[in-house]
Amino acid sequence: MSVCTVVGAQWGDEGKGKIVDLLAENADIIARWGGGPNAGHTVVVKNEKFVLHHIPSGILNPKTINLLGAGVVIDPIVLLKEVDGLVARGIEVEGRLFLDPRAHCIFSYHQRLDAAQEKVAKIGTTKRGIGPAYTDKYARFGIRIGDFSNESHLTARLKAECERMNHQLKQVYGESPMDIQTVLDEILPLRTKIARWIRDVSLELNFGLKQGKNILLEGAQGTLLDINFGTYPFVTSSESIAGGASAGLGLGPKHLTEVIGVAKAYVTRVGNGPFPTEETSEIGEQLRHYGSEFGSTTGRPRRCGWWDNVVANYAVRVNGLTAWAITKLDILCGFPKIHYCTAYDTPYGLTTEFPTDGQILAQVKPIYETVEGWEGPIHHCRTFEALPKAAQNYIQMIEQLTQTPVKYISVGEKRDETIVR
Ligand code: GDP
Ligand code: IMO
Ligand code: MG
Repeated sequence: MSVCTVVGAQWGDEGKGKIVDLLAENADIIARWGGGPNAGHTVVVKNEKFVLHHIPSGILNPKTINLLGAGVVIDPIVLLKEVDGLVARGIEVEGRLFLDPRAHCIFSYHQRLDAAQEKVAKIGTTKRGIGPAYTDKYARFGIRIGDFSNESHLTARLKAECERMNHQLKQVYGESPMDIQTVLDEILPLRTKIARWIRDVSLELNFGLKQGKNILLEGAQGTLLDINFGTYPFVTSSESIAGGASAGLGLGPKHLTEVIGVAKAYVTRVGNGPFPTEETSEIGEQLRHYGSEFGSTTGRPRRCGWWDNVVANYAVRVNGLTAWAITKLDILCGFPKIHYCTAYDTPYGLTTEFPTDGQILAQVKPIYETVEGWEGPIHHCRTFEALPKAAQNYIQMIEQLTQTPVKYISVGEKRDETIVR
């Protein structure tokens, strides 16, 4: 019996999907605790590529049960399309996917509002309706998965919410209103499909623990996109740090014993907001090109830069990381020199702690150390010792500077292209 939490340690897209898929081989239950279809988790199994937005990456492992907890926001249309896509590719989903009745829903009016708000706020959101759906949740107007149990109740709630949302769209943002009947027509036919998957996820997980099951908790987004600890306001609207897993799933914090931070061997970010080690030069272009750094959800080019140890130590602290999974080490092959940031030069002096103030963060200058690079390829390496010496040193640098062991090293996108230590 164990609970292993996998959390993004940077700005998302660290390779959580690949690591979860790998760890799912020894898991019985996989649960997601937050976020929604803003996530895009890529898993490559035997040359077949899957991008999962809603469903935990554990679904590709046939013996697992997969859960979406109370803290997730669920878009019923996206979810059912994803299920159909998996079924069409021979993945059995029925009886393996369950939704907490407390999870809130995203409807098309949330996406409309997200797009309207973006014209003002310019966060660079995925426009999947995430912010407006969490806003409704916390304002206590939200419609939950449990509301799908009763047709007349769901119909009345949807009508009332569409009217309220139309008021906002028209009066606040000067947008055209939604056609309420269109919203009803796209949602009501899905009602019974969604309702049959409802299950109390908290009960399921705690019962699983008592039965000695192995549980894997899959984070979405990343530490610096967390609503409390991220680079606010350029964040998502959920708790993406490890502590969010307990609150979003109804699983006591004492059970979260192993917390694996997934980080790329460099750093990327999609969307707006400060990014101290961003390389806007040729190097950033090379990282994007070699790493195919384009968003899994929106296709936007990802901003790229060098490893940032201030970020890494912050992730260790706010998540309580017990180990690292370092991904995409193969992408650094061939760079003659590799730089990594050890501190920030701020208007108030040098610091190794991540600033709480976004205005300061936007002004910091990274202080770099430089090491020799190494030649590839390394995707065939299956032991630490098989890596070029300079790559070994790089991993040891991460361990020493963060005082946290690197347990997994990913050297390619496929499931088996991983070194487990
Ligand atoms: P997630 O959102 O954290 O699951 O990450 P994404 O799937 O959005 O982005 C990570 C990308 O890197 C995906 O295209 C993965 O297939 C790919 N990837 C993961 N690990 C490795 C690796 O070690 N090497 C390479 N070359 N690609 C990787
Ligand atoms: P995974 O799980 C990378 C970013 C968006 C934007 C900000 C707010 O694949 O790592 P939102 O639509 O959530 O309101 O957008 O958060 N963002 C992500 N960036 N990976 C993700 O998920 C992300 N989910 C949201 O680009 O900057
Ligand atoms: Mg992603």
